[in-house]
Amino acid sequence: MITAPDAEHTRLRRLAGPAFLNSGIAEVEPVLQHYVDLLCTQLTNTSTEGSQNMVEWFLWALNDVIGQLALDQEFQCLEKRRMHPWPSFLLGALKQMAALNQFRRFGISLRLLAPLMTKAMIAERENWFNQATTAVNQRLKREQDESQKLEAGNLAGDQKKQRDIVGLMLREMKGGERLTEAEVTANSILIVGGGAETTSTCLSATLYHLCKTPRVMQKLREELRQTFGRSEDITIKACANMPYLKATIDESLRIFPVASYITPRVTPTGGHTIAGEIVPGGTYVSMGQWYMGRSERFFDDPQAFRPERWLDSSKEEVSGMSPDEILRSFSLGPRNCIGKL
Ligand code: HEM
Repeated sequence: MITAPDAEHTRLRRLAGPAFLNSGIAEVEPVLQHYVDLLCTQLTNTSTEGSQNMVEWFLWALNDVIGQLALDQEFQCLEKRRMHPWPSFLLGALKQMAALNQFRRFGISLRLLAPLMTKAMIAERENWFNQATTAVNQRLKREQDESQKLEAGNLAGDQKKQRDIVGLMLREMKGGERLTEAEVTANSILIVGGGAETTSTCLSATLYHLCKTPRVMQKLREELRQTFGRSEDITIKACANMPYLKATIDESLRIFPVASYITPRVTPTGGHTIAGEIVPGGTYVSMGQWYMGRSERFFDDPQAFRPERWLDSSKEEVSGMSPDEILRSFSLGPRNCIGKL
């Protein structure tokens, strides 16, 4: 999806989009609750062993959540306290791609660099791809079996296990245009890669800044304690009505943007006017969120972790703009983040 040409991309978003709408998200809430509970239990148990690496814990938790949400797979990262080989490979590949992409600035294509890959690297990539396709195929086969049983009257509708994103995507496509198996596989891999690392990085950065800024931690704790009496009441819907929590996450994404820059777009032939400037056609343009979020040109005291700047449509004195006029952590337009609630 992320690399598809425009027309193809529109089709893929139309077919996959409904699985991410709020109604779909509500259906996956029990999965989230389950793994958050497991994270808390595991942390309680291990807290006696000394300090814990929360970056790892968040990564394990989110990989479990996304494995289950995307294709009903149990990655068991929290349980076994390790990364599952599949997302672990993706994380490594992401780092390699970031480094390799730098060569493209000098006109050296990835195809020219391919001979540099060792046999071990190629074997690892093939092994990962086989694992990923097998997992998706198993999921599709189960969907097929369940549909046949349903038609034959051997399975009640409410017995059907369909809470994962693949299930939701397939349900939306009933009877009409369909995603091919290759498209379901590719997009499931994209969702596992795009959903887990982003969210866990955001959680790690948020916790880091909360620990470094006790004033904010205290204010957020008050909002949480005033809103929830019991952990069971903490739902996606209830969390959507917590302004300070939202501002804290926005502030964390400003100072530590998960997507440090937005994938470049190319201006159309004939050029385009961007922020009042004429940019010639065929130019790569992007948005450097890391730089912008920390720039004194846009933000007052940019190094300070201050969620209040996101509240009550307050404007930054230095630029006269509100933070959400300056930054788009989830991008915008037809290729914005499909996972944003
Ligand atoms: C803090 C969390 C997240 C942030 C900051 C984030 C950010 C982004 C950004 C900036 C893009 C646009 C990329 C570009 O144009 O360069 C994007 C695309 C995407 N994101 Fe996220 N994301 C997050 C979480 C998620 C989650 C949880 C999922 C899935 C469950 C997800 C799935 C995707 C997909 C599939 C795309 C490609 C959309 C397309 O090409 O149409 N993301 N994300």
